[in-house]
Amino acid sequence: MLVGIDQLSFYAPPFYVDMAELADARGVDPNKYLIGIGQTQMSVAPKTQDIVTFAANAAKQILTPEIQKKIDMIIVGTESSLDESKASAVVLHRLLGLNPFTRAFEIKQACYGATAGIQIAVNHLAAHPESNVLVIATDNARYGLNSGGEPTQGAGAVAILLSANPRILALTDETVTLTQDIYDFWRPTGNLYPEVDGPLSNQTYIDSFQKTWDEYEKRYTKTFTDFAALCFHVPYTKMGKKALLAKLADVDADTANRLLQRYEESIHYSKRIGNLYTGSLYLGLISLLETSVSLKAGDKIGLFSYGSGSVAEFFTGHLIEGYEKHLKKESHESLLNKRKKLSITDYEHLFNDTLDISHNRFYQDSQIFSISEVKDLIRHYKQ
Ligand code: HMG
Repeated sequence: MLVGIDQLSFYAPPFYVDMAELADARGVDPNKYLIGIGQTQMSVAPKTQDIVTFAANAAKQILTPEIQKKIDMIIVGTESSLDESKASAVVLHRLLGLNPFTRAFEIKQACYGATAGIQIAVNHLAAHPESNVLVIATDNARYGLNSGGEPTQGAGAVAILLSANPRILALTDETVTLTQDIYDFWRPTGNLYPEVDGPLSNQTYIDSFQKTWDEYEKRYTKTFTDFAALCFHVPYTKMGKKALLAKLADVDADTANRLLQRYEESIHYSKRIGNLYTGSLYLGLISLLETSVSLKAGDKIGLFSYGSGSVAEFFTGHLIEGYEKHLKKESHESLLNKRKKLSITDYEHLFNDTLDISHNRFYQDSQIFSISEVKDLIRHYKQ
């Protein structure tokens, strides 16, 4: 029985910053952000939108009444949690109108959380093939104004529906996971922004890809030639390319060119959104499938997930016949094209204007799911 990804969708908030303008404002050569980091735009969220509303807006695009009834597990992967105790998945379970007999929980391990959710979903579906599992990766990636990580911020969510006999990507049991206790990026409880050692994080990412790939090659006797495309966790679009290039030196030119071309297709959306943390790898997968005209049913795709701290996993899937009919290219392009560009002054104002949950107040936002009221330390959402 095949198990894997049946539906995929993303949401990004309605504002963005132009990276050349941000570079000018920070006194940096724009090519550092545009070429060196590889970002053209960066998503920014207003205070009326948070990880719950990003997630609900992403998930509503793939839910039908039939799917809502079949989902018996909702898992949220996030490192921007709103509560130390209650899982955002429980709030989303109600907002999305899911069946009451559903398991709902949140997973944290930096940008790796949603991948752990996917592996749990795959095991659950093997035992309960009649059910559906909704995994949502949702984050608000914030490093602070004028910080080193500022050009690698972003915001939004990816919703992933998993089922037996999936219509987009069947996942295989070929996976390699690597855990290393290091401090490249971490956020002590109560800290607004992460601590980050940029060079160490870049190096650990590259090393983790090398180690998981080498072990994968050994365990499963496969090579790069077996793959039509590889997707990477994309904290900024240059990162995955650096890891890939480091491994392509001994690979034949046709294979290397093919993987590099597919990589460019996988970063089309990330260039315009920035880092989604848990969602970045899956935004890359959506981008690849919606941009590439070279892929076909049966093609093998490798996915490299990396969460600082660190846990990495390389796993694989193959495309299902007719997968292209289940993509949402038009609505995704339209969502991005309709966003409003902020001046750097407006971005800085929006960034500092955070939600104060200690004051009771009503809020207005035209998004279908957004914060409508804060009362007694509880966020209430418009449905
Ligand atoms: P930095 O010090 O601002 O930049 O840090 P840099 O000096 O390293 O330059 C970046 C690149 O721009 C370099 O290219 C420069 O040569 C190039 P590279 O050598 O790396 O290929 N450059 C230029 N190119 C063209 N024209 C120019 C120019 N000037 C410079 N004029 C850094 C950059 C990404 C480290 C910083 O923004 C940061 O700390 N970001 C946050 C951490 C991060 O994203 N790490 C990535 C790996 S860790 C990860 O993926 C996990 C994560 O998602 C979190 C999680 O798991 O939860 C972050």
